Amino acid sequence: MTATLLGIETSCDETAAAVVVDGTTVRSSVVSSQVDLHARYGGVVPEIASRAHVELIGPVLAEALEDAGVALGALDAVAACRGPGLAGALLVGVSAAKALALVADIPYVGVNHLEAHLYAAWLEQPDLEPPLAVLVASGGHTLLVIMEAHGRYRVVGQTVDDAAGEAFDKVARFLGLGYPGGPAIDALARSGDPAAIPFPRAMADQADFSYAGLKTAVVNHVRQHPDDPVADVAASFQAAAVDQLVAKLAAAADEADAPTLVLGGGVAANSVLRAQVAALAEATGRRAFLPAPRLCTDNAAMIAAAAWWRWRADGPTPLDDGVDPTLGLPAGG
Ligand code: KG4
Ligand code: ZN
Repeated sequence: MTATLLGIETSCDETAAAVVVDGTTVRSSVVSSQVDLHARYGGVVPEIASRAHVELIGPVLAEALEDAGVALGALDAVAACRGPGLAGALLVGVSAAKALALVADIPYVGVNHLEAHLYAAWLEQPDLEPPLAVLVASGGHTLLVIMEAHGRYRVVGQTVDDAAGEAFDKVARFLGLGYPGGPAIDALARSGDPAAIPFPRAMADQADFSYAGLKTAVVNHVRQHPDDPVADVAASFQAAAVDQLVAKLAAAADEADAPTLVLGGGVAANSVLRAQVAALAEATGRRAFLPAPRLCTDNAAMIAAAAWWRWRADGPTPLDDGVDPTLGLPAGG
């Protein structure tokens, strides 16, 4: 029997809803980004995000159901991201999901945002089999995970300071490239020399990530060499940031003997990161799975995908279950 799930994502600055069948087939996926609302502040403002979610959630849900051609009564369950994320923002999606579950008399499934980033890969590659070495790098998280089986994760590395995407955003803001910074740096770096400035590759012998030192090195370099082409600074920063991600992914895959590499999170849209992970897989006889950028960035299809597996494993989530802004990835059993 197939199961049609409605997924809702409101953990940060995207209001998203999607209809997904059996955790793999996307019937609709609507993402309403608030980037324009936050751009002038150079980052996400929680109060503005919560208010925007309240305004957008109704229309986004209606559009997702209409695009899928699915009536509320035809859904088998409704899922929402319950954390990690901004408390007020999470509450909007979770409350909407619970209300729909009550109205339609169907189960509610609370979903971990980090687990959802891992399950985005199944939306394009339904035959994917663990073990996988997964790098999730976004504005909010930098996480290296060995997925040993469905629901069983080993976090082998995370950032000790800034997230990878946060470093792109901060450096872009410093260079006057606007927000979000990742796509701006990626684009400008194409015309720069990645070897122009030897920025540090942090914590080379450890599994954890660090970006604060790299960010400071960029600021110091630009202050000392104000005439260096910005494209060279962007390309050299990007090379150092990506090298760190790829080196640690390679080491984790080796250590876990994982035959498949997977990327997730907004930074996975980075062109140099994608090329280097593909090259790493080729060189080491592995398979690399690089989901389309629209599945790497925050979306609700990944919430519905993860919900399908969670629902099968744990059953519905009680309606009195709340949000958890600091939720970590479950270790599983
Ligand atoms: O997953 P996501 O949409 O939202 C969060 O959960 O944070 O990731 C957004 C982050 C931002 O920091 C953005 O600058 C970064 O992903 N990003 C990129 C690229 N596209 C988006 N970073 C590097 N290169 C890109 N092409
Ligand atoms: Zn995310």
